[in-house]
Amino acid sequence: MILTRRKLLQGSAALGAAALSPRVGLAQNAGFTSITARPASMQLAPDGYAQTDVWGYEGMTPGPTIRVAKGARVQRQFINELPQGSSIHWHGIRIDNAMDGVSGLTQDAVVPGQTFDYDFVAPDAGTYWFHAHNKSVEQVARGLYGALIVEEDEAPDIDQEEVLLLDDWLINPETAQLDPDFEAQHDRSHGGRNGNFITTNGDYQFSSDVKQGDRLRLRLINAANARIFVLSLTGLEGWVMAYDGMPLEKPEKIDGEFPLAPGQRVDLFVDVTAQEGEAAYLLRTIDERLLPQAAFPVTARSSSATRGAPQPLAPNHGEHITDVSDATPVTLRMEGGAMGQLNTAVLDGEEMTFRQLAEANQFWSFNGVVGMTETPLASFSRGELVRLKIENETRFPHAMHLHGMHFREVLEDGQFGPMRDTILTYAGRPTEIAFRSDNPGKWLFHCHMLSHAAAGMRTWIDVA
Ligand code: C2O
Ligand code: CU
Repeated sequence: MILTRRKLLQGSAALGAAALSPRVGLAQNAGFTSITARPASMQLAPDGYAQTDVWGYEGMTPGPTIRVAKGARVQRQFINELPQGSSIHWHGIRIDNAMDGVSGLTQDAVVPGQTFDYDFVAPDAGTYWFHAHNKSVEQVARGLYGALIVEEDEAPDIDQEEVLLLDDWLINPETAQLDPDFEAQHDRSHGGRNGNFITTNGDYQFSSDVKQGDRLRLRLINAANARIFVLSLTGLEGWVMAYDGMPLEKPEKIDGEFPLAPGQRVDLFVDVTAQEGEAAYLLRTIDERLLPQAAFPVTARSSSATRGAPQPLAPNHGEHITDVSDATPVTLRMEGGAMGQLNTAVLDGEEMTFRQLAEANQFWSFNGVVGMTETPLASFSRGELVRLKIENETRFPHAMHLHGMHFREVLEDGQFGPMRDTILTYAGRPTEIAFRSDNPGKWLFHCHMLSHAAAGMRTWIDVA
């Protein structure tokens, strides 16, 4: 019998991958540990349903949490045991460009059976995540993501921490398997691939015991392909401490619902107000219905005293933009999608009608161009202050993510929003962001609704 590479990989995976050559040499490089992407199956759906075939880091989804100190070096040898090329993007990290993990821009996709050494410093404390960045619409939907936590120099005053990765899965209820049509036209031209089965850390009824009066730190990460989670709390009271890893100068009291778009993170400090014997909840709102996203049964009373409003987290490098009058202006006009007004746009150097684009399964343009080209959206010198206006002329919201650098929203009253790496833009409402282009390299700028990215919403900027 001839062993194909695929079979060989499956066979060696069953043996704990001991036979795979990439592991040889690890001993000489003590700082490196490996992270293997491979197929696995998981009990995602309730008991009584079959297991779901997924792809996961270390065979799990979410993959194992990577937790390091601020300023520490992260060294991971990525081993690809998937049937497709892949790479890992370290979302939100102010990273060395060569380590950003974007297949086709900062590196070639790592082919099955091969490896790539990721080696970078995590300069800022906060909640980040990592995920596949080749055929992301498929690979992230199959489960290739995990949390990357960079700890503050001084541990904040909390009693318990929960890292919560929110996701939705498009599952066939008969078979409990993922819908394999990752390129569905409807998803690509409308709101993206929305799942019918929602989980927290891969669990549809996530629960963690807490004590009344305790202060929890919730690190929420939206790992879904397209879903904007609309979240709220009950039996918990508290503050937003950070967005997309970056601490707020002043914690924001949580009042009512808050959105979390794909790719975004939020750090909350919340005090448990629910009584012993009850449960507190993180809730999501869907079609005006409130449903539990994560349950926190209250099993005891805290021994620690109540604390009052928290001190802000220690600032990261923080760019205090105070004035953008001299900033370099750039405009990004988004067009296309269902019910949009896109007539023609350029795909692969050719002007096409919307109908021709649809035949190519492409639906969205940035400044009249569909998808990535050799030419960046803009080139900046190092340290340049940039103001980028995003005009969302589509009928859909889009979560725009800039790699490599955080930005602030330019607000109308001369104020600036919090530092973020992913911003939700709404149909018909222009959004302006400002950032200092202080990280050299080629940085992707795309919609984190991954079907949209695959169907045209990708561009990049070049920082010299
Ligand atoms: Cu989290 Cu380019 O993505
Ligand atoms: Cu989008």
